[in-house]
Amino acid sequence: MTETTVIPVTGTDPYDVIIGRGLLASLADQLGPRVAKVLIVHPPTLGAKANALRESLMDRYEVLLAEVPDAEDAKRVEVAAFCWQIMGQTDFTRTDAVVGLGGGATTDLAGFVAATWLRGVRLVQCPTSVAGMVDAAVGGKTGINTAEGKNLVGSFYAPAAVVVDLDTLDTLPRNEILAGFAEVVKCGFIGEPEILDIIEADVDRATDPTSDEFRRVVELSIGLKARVVSEDFKESGLREILNYGHTLGHAIEHAERYRWRHGAAISVGMVFAAELGRIAGSLSDEVVDRHRRILESLTLPVDYPLGRWKTLLATMQRDKKARAGMMRFIVLDDVGKTSVLAGPEEALLFAAYQEVGV
Ligand code: GLY
Repeated sequence: MTETTVIPVTGTDPYDVIIGRGLLASLADQLGPRVAKVLIVHPPTLGAKANALRESLMDRYEVLLAEVPDAEDAKRVEVAAFCWQIMGQTDFTRTDAVVGLGGGATTDLAGFVAATWLRGVRLVQCPTSVAGMVDAAVGGKTGINTAEGKNLVGSFYAPAAVVVDLDTLDTLPRNEILAGFAEVVKCGFIGEPEILDIIEADVDRATDPTSDEFRRVVELSIGLKARVVSEDFKESGLREILNYGHTLGHAIEHAERYRWRHGAAISVGMVFAAELGRIAGSLSDEVVDRHRRILESLTLPVDYPLGRWKTLLATMQRDKKARAGMMRFIVLDDVGKTSVLAGPEEALLFAAYQEVGV
């Protein structure tokens, strides 16, 4: 096993994000001495890894597996009920633990199941995708979707630990890694410019999960997220900056009926937000161009059909109802300098959209 990095998340329920290689083999260290049963929630594609994990834990715990659908299909109440059923039938108690092994959708579901069973049991998140590692599994947002929209049901629920085992990325398709990098780039623009420098210096090394550069950008991204959620766990202020590029990005995901990867949608969303920062504020052409250059170097999309504007605007306006009647966009004044643009004129938004529209 190589060197391990520990990034603390502080607050009412503090925990560590542990980053390294081969960490799943010693997962028992994070489960604690009182735990008797462990429920590993995982998608079908990680069946072999879940089984290996079960074998490694079996001499100390009773280990149960809950195989759940891939990606967003996991985030349904029926799937949560399937997990609750396993827990009910095995007398899962308050001193037992849930392990979320998978991408962001799996860890969101596993977190929700852990938060709700007996009003909360121990949770250890083991993200296996780039976006899961740098975003979804850190910060305690858990949830499922309903027919009316994404993440409408859920809670803020801090895990006991997040174990980022970089070895789990070995079998991840390259396009999945690149899509996950949209969240890494986001962290670069909102507060960790070194990430941008590393990607610009050598995009192939930066996105190679076995390289030191990859580990560095992942650690910088997690460090930023940890600082933000330590200060504002329940998103009453600062945490909102993590939504950079997400307002239009979510509308694109919705318009594409969730067939676009989240990273691809927020890639376009970030270019839009950059254009908005330029038109509405003081962001320089150079930083806007830097968005396009970096995202294109990752083969992520930077434009979207112009004719879809009305649909996208309608979705963003629906979204605003949940936000006290006002559309809000995170924009940049410079790299690392975020501000909130609240209630912008439609004409301003359209002017920015024209810059990404094709
Ligand atoms: N994914 C954004 C957040 O955790 O707040």
